[in-house]
Amino acid sequence: MKEEPFRTIIEPFRIHSVEPMRLTTRVARTEALAAAGYNLFELRAEDVLIDLLTDSGTGAMSAEQWAGIQRGNEAYAGSPSFLRFAEAVTGLFPFRHVLPTHQGRAAEKILFTAVGGPGRVVPNNTHFDTTRANIEFTGAMAADLPIPEGLQPSLRHPFKGNMDVGALERLLSERADAVPLVMITVTNNSGGGQPVSMANIRAVRGICDHFGKPLFLDACRFAENAWFIKTGEPGYSGASVSDIVREMASLADGMTMSAKKDPLANIGGWLALNDDSLADRCRNLEILTEGFPTYGGLAGRDLEAIAQGLDECVDHDYLRYRVRSVAYLGEALESAGVPVVVPFGGHAVFIDARAMLAHIGPLRYPGQALACALYEEGGVRSCEIGTVMFGLHPDGTETPAPMDLVRLAIPRRTYTQSHIDYVIEVVTRVAKRAPELPGMRIVSQPSQLRHFTARFAPAA
Ligand code: F0G
Repeated sequence: MKEEPFRTIIEPFRIHSVEPMRLTTRVARTEALAAAGYNLFELRAEDVLIDLLTDSGTGAMSAEQWAGIQRGNEAYAGSPSFLRFAEAVTGLFPFRHVLPTHQGRAAEKILFTAVGGPGRVVPNNTHFDTTRANIEFTGAMAADLPIPEGLQPSLRHPFKGNMDVGALERLLSERADAVPLVMITVTNNSGGGQPVSMANIRAVRGICDHFGKPLFLDACRFAENAWFIKTGEPGYSGASVSDIVREMASLADGMTMSAKKDPLANIGGWLALNDDSLADRCRNLEILTEGFPTYGGLAGRDLEAIAQGLDECVDHDYLRYRVRSVAYLGEALESAGVPVVVPFGGHAVFIDARAMLAHIGPLRYPGQALACALYEEGGVRSCEIGTVMFGLHPDGTETPAPMDLVRLAIPRRTYTQSHIDYVIEVVTRVAKRAPELPGMRIVSQPSQLRHFTARFAPAA
C-alpha cells in the first residue's frame, strides 16, 4: 500500500538536553543596546532571547556527536580521530589532501597567504566577509560576480546564488595572469543564502579549464545547497544528497570549509585540495598558526564531532525539515507584508531593510537600524549584512553595499516552531512602526571588518 505523506514536516529529533533562556524587559534591552554601542555583537548572549545572529557553531549536537566527544583521541600526531575525520571528509569531498583548521577563516588565511598577494584578483559568486578580508589582507582584490538576479531581493530565481559566467569569462580574458584561482560559495551566504546550481558550477568549471585555473568551493553550506539541487534542478530528484555533493566536489580542485555550519559542529573547519605542491606549502603555513596537520587547531574530540556531523547533515529527513523550517519563517513574514529576499535560502531569512526602512538612506545604515529595533522589541538578535558590513573599502572610502539586508540565521536543530512563531510576531510588530525608526551613525570604527566592533548612535 502506498503511504500517504503527512502535511506537517516535523523536527526529526526529540530534545535530549535543554538550555534555559532568560526573558528580559524592554527597559533592560534598551539599556543593554545603548551600552553595546548599538552593535549587537557587543551584547551579552544572556541578554538575548532568540539568537539568530548566526547559524555558525550554534547548532545542537546529537547524542552520537556527544558520544564522539568522549571517543576523541588526543594524540598530537596521527590520532585515530583525525583518520575518522579525514575519511568522513573525503567520503563526500574526495580531495587528495585534507588539512583540518580551527574554523573556516583559518583555511582561508592559509590558502590566500599561499596564493594571494598584491596585484592578484580572486573572483567568487559573492565572497563572505572573512574570505574578502583574508584576500584583501594579502593586498589582493576580491571580486564578486553574482548573476544580476542575485542582487534583486524580490526577484524569484531557483538558483539565485549562481555566478555570472559571462562576467567571469570577461575578467579572465582581461586579467588571467592575475587570477590564482576561482571560488564559488555554496550556498551564497552574503547574497541571501541562495543556492548555486550544478549546471552553473559545471559552466564555471569549463571556463576555469579554458584558462587553466583551479576552482575552489567555499562549501560551508554544501548539504543545504545539494538539497536545493535535488529538489529544484532538473535531473536530480532521484539522486541522493551525498551523490550530489560528490558531483559538486568532482567539479572542483579544492575547498575551504567551516564545520560550524552544515557539519553540525560547534567549532572546526578544513582546507582540502588536490595540488600536491600547493598542499605542501599550505601544510607548512598551517603548522605556523594552527598546529600539526593531523589536528590543525582542534582537539581530537572536535574531529570526532565533525565526522559524525558530516554523516547526519546529508540525511534527507533532516534536510527536508531544515529547509522547510526556514521557509516557514520566510513565508509568514512575506504574508505579513515584510519585504524579504525570495526565494528563501537554506540557513536564514533575509529582510530587505532598504525596502522596509525606505526613509533611511544606505549611509544611515537601515539594516543596523532594523537589527537594533528587533532586539529592542523582543530580544531577537539578527545580523546586518549590508553597508555596515561591506561599505567601507581598503582605501578608507565608503559606498552603499549592493543591498542592505538583515539576516535572521537559524541555528541548526536548536529552536522549535513556537520560538519561530515568536520571532514572526516580533518582526511583524517592528514592521508596523518601521517609518518611525531612526537611522544610525557611526561613532567609532576599525579600518577592517568594522561590523564586529564599530560603535553606533541613533542619527538625529
Ligand atoms: N565562508 C562563508 C560562506 C561563511 O558563511 C563563513 C562564516 C565563513 C566562510 C568563515 O567561516 O566562521 O568558521 O571562520 N560565516 C558565519 C556567518 C560567521 O555568520 O555567516 P568561520
